[in-house]
Amino acid sequence: MKGIILAGGTGTRLGPVTKAVSKQLLQVYDKPMIYYPLSVLMLAGVREILVIVTPDDLAGYRRLLGDGSALGLEIGYAVQHEPRGIADAFVLGAGHVGDDQVALVLGDNIFHGQGFSGVLADAVKNLDGCTLFGYAVADPERYGVGEADATGRLISLEEKPAVPKSRRAITGLYLYDNDVVEIAARQRPSARGEREITDVNRAYLELGRASLVDLGRGFAWLDTGTPDSLAEAAKYVQIIENRQGVRVACVEEIALRMGFIDAEACRLLGEELANSQYGQYVMRVAAESGG
Ligand code: DAU
Repeated sequence: MKGIILAGGTGTRLGPVTKAVSKQLLQVYDKPMIYYPLSVLMLAGVREILVIVTPDDLAGYRRLLGDGSALGLEIGYAVQHEPRGIADAFVLGAGHVGDDQVALVLGDNIFHGQGFSGVLADAVKNLDGCTLFGYAVADPERYGVGEADATGRLISLEEKPAVPKSRRAITGLYLYDNDVVEIAARQRPSARGEREITDVNRAYLELGRASLVDLGRGFAWLDTGTPDSLAEAAKYVQIIENRQGVRVACVEEIALRMGFIDAEACRLLGEELANSQYGQYVMRVAAESGG
């Protein structure tokens, strides 16, 4: 399975800082926002990843992530010149996807919860058509909203409905078979000139090939789109990390635990950041594994 992280867009709701910096490079407590979605793909076992960015921000992402080899990944980049919609990722990423399956994750989505790796592994193993991940929220009208039958088959889907049929928001993590490349390519742009991901998902729904996995209430799916939600996400990560003494979405640790790199490589990555508590944590994790 190939991976795509969509990290374009304008981030205007976080202005003025997003005049100068890409939203998905902003810090969420102790690490850049993009580490969170990157860690989701890594936990799903995905190692070939395309990062879609704006032209102005490409250099920053390259400085941060390089070609991915330090984490045992293959990271490539594509430029989205203007926000043409989430499903534009499959047009820009068609060559990257090839004839494989693909996981798309939005660069501003944060997922955290016990058993997430298992949920991801099951979803990847059982993928047939498309799999979406639902999460009950207090304000579903701000999101894509879906309903599933008792077997987990998606039976309705709406984008930002004024009167939602359920409280189940569709999160920014999407798994697809290879048909998505063709489905996205033939999608007509919406009134706002975008290829809408909800239209792609509806095409799968109409074929009876869309599943909805419920993430459950013990789970955290966090938003980072506004100053308040970004501050709350940072607070959440801070509380969990300080209480438990382990880090959320530490990509070096995940690379080590997934077997993408060895303990020595992990230690060297920590050493590069030895002045920060994050780097000291990476070195500690490496040392505990013999690095
Ligand atoms: O976060 C989950 C929600 O994401 C879903 O529930 C919705 O169904 C889905 O449409 C989307 O809603 P948003 O209102 O959050 O979409 P937005 O246009 O803000 O795009 C989400 C992120 O994707 C944004 O941080 C920037 C990036 N993006 C977006 C577009 C449209 C791009 O990189 N390029 C784009 O062309």
